[in-house]
Amino acid sequence: MSDALLTMDDVRASYGDFQALFNITLEIRAGEIVTLIGANGAGKTTTLRVISGLLRSQHGQLRFDGQDISKLPPHEIVVRGVSHVPEGRQLFPHMSVEENLALGAYIGRVRPKLKDLVEEQFELFPRLKERRRQLAGTLSGGEQQMVALARGLMAAPKLLLLDEPSLGLSPKIVEEVFAKVQQIGKSGVTVLIVEQNVVDGLSISDRGYVVENGEVTLQGTPKELLGNEQIRAAYLGL
Ligand SMILES: Nc1ncnc2c1ncn2[C@@H]1O[C@H](COP(=O)(O)OP(=O)(O)OP(=O)(O)O)[C@@H](O)[C@H]1O
Ligand SMILES: [Mg+2]
Repeated sequence: MSDALLTMDDVRASYGDFQALFNITLEIRAGEIVTLIGANGAGKTTTLRVISGLLRSQHGQLRFDGQDISKLPPHEIVVRGVSHVPEGRQLFPHMSVEENLALGAYIGRVRPKLKDLVEEQFELFPRLKERRRQLAGTLSGGEQQMVALARGLMAAPKLLLLDEPSLGLSPKIVEEVFAKVQQIGKSGVTVLIVEQNVVDGLSISDRGYVVENGEVTLQGTPKELLGNEQIRAAYLGL
C-alpha cells in the first residue's frame, strides 16, 4: 500500500542458531496506532529489535518511509525517524529526569532543538516538569514509564515503538499511560505498541496483529480481535 509508513513482509530473524522470527508480515500506515499482541516468547520484542536495527533480519522486506532499512545500523534508523522505547524502560537511574531526556536527543537533527523538545515533553507530562531534577531511579514506576516515553519522543520520531509500556503498573496508572500514548498519536506520531495487556492496548489502537511462535497469524480491528474466540480464550481467559 502506498501510504504505508512501515512494511514488514515475511521477515525472519535469529539469535545465533535459534530462529525467533519466521514470518512477520505487517503494515503500519502513517498516523495509526497499532498493537502487537502475543504470548511470552512469541517474538514481539524481537520484532521491535529488528525494526530498530538492533537485530538483523535475514529474509524478507523491511521498509520504512519508502526505503529499505534492513541493512542500516540502529543510529541511522533513529535518524530516519524510528524511536524505540525498550522493554523495562532502561532509564539511567542515577541521572535526573532532564538528563535522561537529553540522552534521547543525541541525533544531529534534533540536537539544536534540545531545549524546545524538553519543554514539549514537559507540556505533555507536567508531572515530570515538577520532578525535572529528581534522579530517575527514585521516581515511581508510572513516572519512570512517562520518562521513557518522553525520552523516546526527544528524537522527534515519525514512528514510536513501545515495548510493554504497561508492565508492572497498577490499572489506574496503566490508564494514564495509555491516555498519553493516545495523545501522542493525536499529535501525529505513528505508534507501534507491544502489549500483553490486550484490552487496554487495543482500546486505543486502530488495528492489531497477533504474533504466535515468531509468526503473524491474525490481524484486525480491535473489535474484530476482541470478538475472536481464539483470542478470547488465549489472551483474555474467557
Ligand atoms: N538475546 C537472545 N538470545 C537468544 N534467544 C533470545 C534472545 N532474546 C530473545 N530470545 C528468544 O527469542 C524468542 C522471542 O523472544 P522475545 O523477547 O521477542 O519475546 P516476546 O514476545 O517479547 O516475549 P515477552 O512477552 O516475554 O516479552 C524467545 O524464545 C526468546 O527466548
Ligand atoms: Mg518482550
